[in-house]
Amino acid sequence: MNLVNPDYVEYQITPAHCRRIAERTRKTSGVQIDVTKTDFIRLRLSQRLRSLGLKDFDAYLDRLDNDTTGVETRLLTEALATHTTDFFRESHQYDWLAREGLGLLKKDGIGSRHPLVVWSAACSTGAELWSAAMMLAESEEYMTVPGRVRLLGSDLSKAILRKAAAATYTEEEISGLSAERRMRFLLRSKKLRDKSGRPYYRVEPELRSIARFLQANLLDTAPLRSETMDIVFLRNVLIYFDRETQDRVLTNVASLIRPGGILLTGHAEPVKNRSDLKTVSPSIYRKI
Ligand SMILES: C[S@@+](CC[C@H](N)C(=O)[O-])C[C@H]1O[C@@H](n2cnc3c(N)ncnc32)[C@H](O)[C@@H]1O
Repeated sequence: MNLVNPDYVEYQITPAHCRRIAERTRKTSGVQIDVTKTDFIRLRLSQRLRSLGLKDFDAYLDRLDNDTTGVETRLLTEALATHTTDFFRESHQYDWLAREGLGLLKKDGIGSRHPLVVWSAACSTGAELWSAAMMLAESEEYMTVPGRVRLLGSDLSKAILRKAAAATYTEEEISGLSAERRMRFLLRSKKLRDKSGRPYYRVEPELRSIARFLQANLLDTAPLRSETMDIVFLRNVLIYFDRETQDRVLTNVASLIRPGGILLTGHAEPVKNRSDLKTVSPSIYRKI
């Protein structure tokens, strides 16, 4: 029996445990974990072992091997994932969309004959999708009229999606937003306070009403096939994949983009040698 009742257990982890954990994470999410970071892996997972009342990492790996529902494996990848994000991260891309990108889509009737669909494909806490919503609301042509614009955020992690959908942030998390944008697009909570006593901020209801969030693994985008995307943010997630997985994910994502639609990647994620994507500038592409 592997169950214990510890107040606190300092778990021991070996390189072999780390290799098995990394292999499982790579297979299910594509994310590559550096197996030499044993302390990082141990610290990130110890809480889960404690919650399950397990005595060691061998017992945890047995749990994972017998995970018929996939829940334990999902919690593993959630615990090891990096969710770093920010409002208007790589702001030149939002500037380009407002200045040129939206005009290119408009010529194809996007936002008038067809709704404009924006997808944040590894949306983390939602800052990326809400930034796109703000940029659209600021543009004269694409006001956030229901029916004209649809916003979709997806991520592998259910826990992070709950935060994205709640659209509630601390002062620190909204540091990327100008005073004007805070005034226009956020509501300041009268009651909710963070640990330092500062208020929380929530994205205003009009923007929230055109957004939805769902769990999706970029290794298998079949559940999203009913959507045709016009602007896709696929940023700061390809870097965690090996070359083969990057190609697979790009093929999955590109297949969901309307011809002429726009793909944005992170600055460290250049897309090369693809017959389905044309480079506009580094990190901005159009579907052929
Ligand atoms: C560093 S964040 C990037 C957030 C945002 N795109 C940005 O650039 O600010 C990476 C996100 O990718 C998600 N992720 C990792 N592997 C994934 C996969 N196979 N499918 C979907 N999301 C994944 C993680 O859960 C995490 O929230």
